[in-house]
Amino acid sequence: MAVIKTEHLTYIYGAGTPYEKRALDDINLSIEAGEFVGVIGHTGSGKSTLIQHFNALLKPTSGKVYIDGVDVWAAGKAALQGFRFDVGLVFQYPEHQLFEETVYKDIAFGPRNMGLSEREIDERVREAAHYVGLTEAMLDHSPFEISGGQKRRAAIAGVLSMRPKVLILDEPTAGLDPRGRDQILRLIADYHRTTGSTVLIVSHSMEDVARYASRILIMNNAKVHAYLPVREAFSDPEVLMNMGLSVPPITRVFHRLSQKGLYSGPEVLTLEEGKAALKAMLGGAKDA
Ligand SMILES: Nc1ncnc2c1ncn2[C@@H]1O[C@H](COP(=O)(O)OP(=O)(O)OP(=O)(O)O)[C@@H](O)[C@H]1O
Ligand SMILES: [Mg+2]
Repeated sequence: MAVIKTEHLTYIYGAGTPYEKRALDDINLSIEAGEFVGVIGHTGSGKSTLIQHFNALLKPTSGKVYIDGVDVWAAGKAALQGFRFDVGLVFQYPEHQLFEETVYKDIAFGPRNMGLSEREIDERVREAAHYVGLTEAMLDHSPFEISGGQKRRAAIAGVLSMRPKVLILDEPTAGLDPRGRDQILRLIADYHRTTGSTVLIVSHSMEDVARYASRILIMNNAKVHAYLPVREAFSDPEVLMNMGLSVPPITRVFHRLSQKGLYSGPEVLTLEEGKAALKAMLGGAKDA
């Protein structure tokens, strides 16, 4: 069943003013539970606006959003809070929103708002800290004393502690060094695997999307250009490249090889797959 669905979702910033901007234009989308979705598209294409509709932060100008089959804006005011717990949204640079005296209190903020008992809150904080690789000792630190990468992970833990059914992250690796990026992506992939929850990541990195996502959602100029399995998206790199979106270099190399009739296997998305494909080709040549 679709965990998130939109019907004719349209959103206009500053409607009726000279600055009116149609950021989402008639979006019809259905995301199945358990998917790992990479959301890509040019700057200004509507990615952030779209995902803020998925946890009831923005109200559609017109059209509908359903979470678990429930029409979000017809469910009544009391239900809105519940949607925000079910669909956890990690903003870009979420560490800017850390504000408590200790990391522990920051991670506990969401569960506390949910009205959970002290014991349950404690359990959730420790579980979330564990997911993101923060040690017990770090929980007592001020969020201002820890490193940039740790801050980012603490902020993500602050959303995980609500045990959202759907986890959405807006460019979670922005501004991190390669090591920090890998750590974040790996912890998100682990979370997805172990909890079976639905994950959406807005990313500018095709490599990251190719490596981790099962499906790709391509936004273009306020519309969904495509929502399809990752492998299909990369089966015709020219389509993506014509939109100004990159394709992992390794995918391009193998695409070129197949155009020359030198490769005929499935789409290659990662270096590991490239190595395996090369080995198979060379092995095949030896046998011939
Ligand atoms: N608060 C706002 N007021 C007015 N216009 C806005 C506002 N936020 C976004 N927009 C406009 O809406 C459009 C979609 O913006 P959005 O932030 O959703 O794009 P995005 O795909 O997330 O871009 P980026 O990759 O730069 O984060 C853009 O044209 C943007 O300028
Ligand atoms: Mg954005």
